[in-house]
Amino acid sequence: MKDYSTPTFSIEKISLLFELFDESAIVTAKSVFRRTIPSETTLTLDGGQYMELLAIELDGRQLSPNDYSLTDTALVIHSVPEVFELTVKTKLKPKENTRLEGLYYSGGNFCTQCEAEGFRHITYFLDRPDVLASYDVRIEADKARYPVLLANGNRGENGDLESGRHFAEWHDPHPKPSYLFALVAGDLAERKSSFVTMSGKTVELNIYVRPEDMERSEYAMGALQRSMKWDEDVYGLEYDLDIYNIVAVSDFNMGAMENKGLNIFNTKYVLADQYTATDADFGHVEGVIGHEYFHNWTGNRVTCRDWFQLSLKEGLTVFRDQEFSADLGSRSLKRIEDVKALRFSQFPEDGSPLAHPVRPEKYVEINNFYTATVYNKGAEVIRMMHTLIGASAFRDGMDLYFERHDGQAVTCEDFVKAMESASGMDLRQFRLWYSQAGTPTVSFERRRKGNDVSLRLEQACPATPGQATKKANHMPIVIGWLDASGKEITPAVEGPGNWNGTSCLLQLTETMQEFVFRDVPEGAVLSFLRGFSAPVLVKSDYNERELAHLIKCDTDAFARYEAAQTLAADVLIAAYEGVDSTSRPVYLEAISGCLSQDLQDVALLAELISVPSELEVGQKISELDVERLHIAREALLVEIAEGNKHRFIDIYSELKQSDYELSEQAKGKRRLRNRVLSYLSLVDGGDQIVKTHYHDADNMTDQIAALIEVSHSNFDYRQEIFDDFYKQWCENELVIDKWFAVQAQSKRIDTLSLVKELSNHSDFSYTNPNRLRSLVMSFSLLNQRGFHAADGAGYKFLANVIAEVDKKNPQTAAKLVAPLGRWQKQPKNNADLMKKCLSSLLNTSSLSDDVRELCEKSVA
Ligand code: TRP
Ligand code: ZN
Repeated sequence: MKDYSTPTFSIEKISLLFELFDESAIVTAKSVFRRTIPSETTLTLDGGQYMELLAIELDGRQLSPNDYSLTDTALVIHSVPEVFELTVKTKLKPKENTRLEGLYYSGGNFCTQCEAEGFRHITYFLDRPDVLASYDVRIEADKARYPVLLANGNRGENGDLESGRHFAEWHDPHPKPSYLFALVAGDLAERKSSFVTMSGKTVELNIYVRPEDMERSEYAMGALQRSMKWDEDVYGLEYDLDIYNIVAVSDFNMGAMENKGLNIFNTKYVLADQYTATDADFGHVEGVIGHEYFHNWTGNRVTCRDWFQLSLKEGLTVFRDQEFSADLGSRSLKRIEDVKALRFSQFPEDGSPLAHPVRPEKYVEINNFYTATVYNKGAEVIRMMHTLIGASAFRDGMDLYFERHDGQAVTCEDFVKAMESASGMDLRQFRLWYSQAGTPTVSFERRRKGNDVSLRLEQACPATPGQATKKANHMPIVIGWLDASGKEITPAVEGPGNWNGTSCLLQLTETMQEFVFRDVPEGAVLSFLRGFSAPVLVKSDYNERELAHLIKCDTDAFARYEAAQTLAADVLIAAYEGVDSTSRPVYLEAISGCLSQDLQDVALLAELISVPSELEVGQKISELDVERLHIAREALLVEIAEGNKHRFIDIYSELKQSDYELSEQAKGKRRLRNRVLSYLSLVDGGDQIVKTHYHDADNMTDQIAALIEVSHSNFDYRQEIFDDFYKQWCENELVIDKWFAVQAQSKRIDTLSLVKELSNHSDFSYTNPNRLRSLVMSFSLLNQRGFHAADGAGYKFLANVIAEVDKKNPQTAAKLVAPLGRWQKQPKNNADLMKKCLSSLLNTSSLSDDVRELCEKSVA
């Protein structure tokens, strides 16, 4: 980041011609360059691998090989004038492109993926985000095989050519960096709709899918329209082209891509219907459709100066999609889910050798930095600013950000400055969230002094690679108080704190800081870190009675959920350590208490009665014995199941729904009923309840809930149900992904051998990222007991898969490395075996930079 310098040439305009054939593609790129530094006569363009240079012309003159030099990764043209037109002709082999980056072939269609540095595999170019050009694109292809021809921007001319070929032209008037370029050519079905913007412009909307997926694309279209409306309502942001296209492809390295006017999506985040998608899947489709749409302003209109600033667009856009989903669905549940995701993926990353700041300062391979830290912690950083300055100043700050930077490539600093100007708040210390890695811990201690209670907060942040010591962060800590009867009270605060309704925003800026609350009645309980107002670990001085009180009456859903999780984790850790705990009966009573009430917020109740996963509890234990933890947790589950058996049976039948609906209420009922099913699977006769649930299911949420319980079980019909599910869904690759994933997550002791067997299944694939994630990631990231088995067989399996995948798709191979680097809390024997796998990977010949960078960091 320190070495950043502005580009020495600008490109105002580029015209691209794509001549597509079954076996190759010829790309002719004509660009106008202008020197930005007076004396500069050498032009260095990125590009080289996986493409053949056919010809170069400068202002109409063919260049000869001594006018330029060609390296593996660059084309250097020796003496260029101040302004000139360069025409570069390259030849690509899309069918051989298994990296899924640049121009490639998926399911019989051509598509592109250019972020971050894929455009350089299409043509030689200044492939960096601060070079913004306007693009004209012409595509030519066989009309029968590729009837649909798409690129960014608005439609231009189209028509027929000789020998059964046709062409289409596209013009994107908004200057953009090359990473936002996209092209699609194929035989796809089209779902058409439209949207009228707030200024009355009609925008054509299209979603392109395989013909057989047409019906499953309706929900995505609705989600797109809701996104467009939401960005107008909440931020006053309107869409800026005549057309918005979304294309779904099966082979995709990530979730989706925000290419200007032509989003390309993993099918997983477009296709959804009652029978094939779970409620969670619907939520993800809506969230990702929103995410890519919101990028149109936060990412495309205002883009990143360099890739160190990636969180400028990603953190902000994740925050925006989270808020969109919160506004349209259940805000409290969405927050709980987002925090779970953060803890599940970002906290472990932050505590591992791969820890890095939200704005990293160096990298080998930028693709390795599309991380939970940049995305999810980045979103928390934006959220904290929102909390600190308040919603209305935040909106002013957004307006100012667009006013200042529309059409520019900018930095995270520019964003913070806009927020500072709009709010008048000093965010100097706050900026540390961008530069310091690691998850801070906030500890609190209460002390009663007469009628007052002093709250002492202390923050600390562990060392991370390259950062031995940390400065204190500026944190918004939102709290509340509940009196002994459960009523909210608002005692006056001394120290930097402000009441807003029944919650108080404390500003923690020191390593140690004291706040005093006046006239706090005896028995009142503090509700800490409401809404998870800062991405930190909390060390509390709560006793189990206080936690039970919060579980019972906190009005902040997150804090209530958190109290239940904290108490449950205490219980589990005590059981794991084999010590008697006073928490256990208090916890069990609190859970029964929640269940005994009338069923109101059913979705929240489902979360309240959930025991944290082995993985979550495992994070709190060093030298973890995965077997012992598994046994302790299963015992607690059985105790809850048996202790509440009758109530569970009642709830289970009370929540049965006759007709399928996708309302919040209906989803909440399914959530609770399936949670209850999970408990009932553990009691006598549970096998029959699960079997009936499976066969009665009229939607994927219920069907998969039953399958998960079957997967964990020894039920005699286990194989029968898995075969049945496979037979029912073998034509649907997204559902078969679930079939693989559910088996990989089985808590049974024999899961690794099953996973190995499944890796030889004819439907398994080392080249399809979704399939790899469903089997291999599910096992190594989610199945703690299986993956960390003492003999290290899980590690070896993963290392072999990484080596195999790396030959074809380094970007996706690299995504599989993280689990091997999480050896810090494992017993020495396991840690050694993990490091051995990393070392042996590093000894593999021709390992990609992607995998090498992560293995090197992980082993250290
Ligand atoms: N920018 C995309 C998003 O956040 C993600 C992305 C980055 C991506 N690189 C990619 C997607 C490579 C697919 C392949 O929405
Ligand atoms: Zn994004």
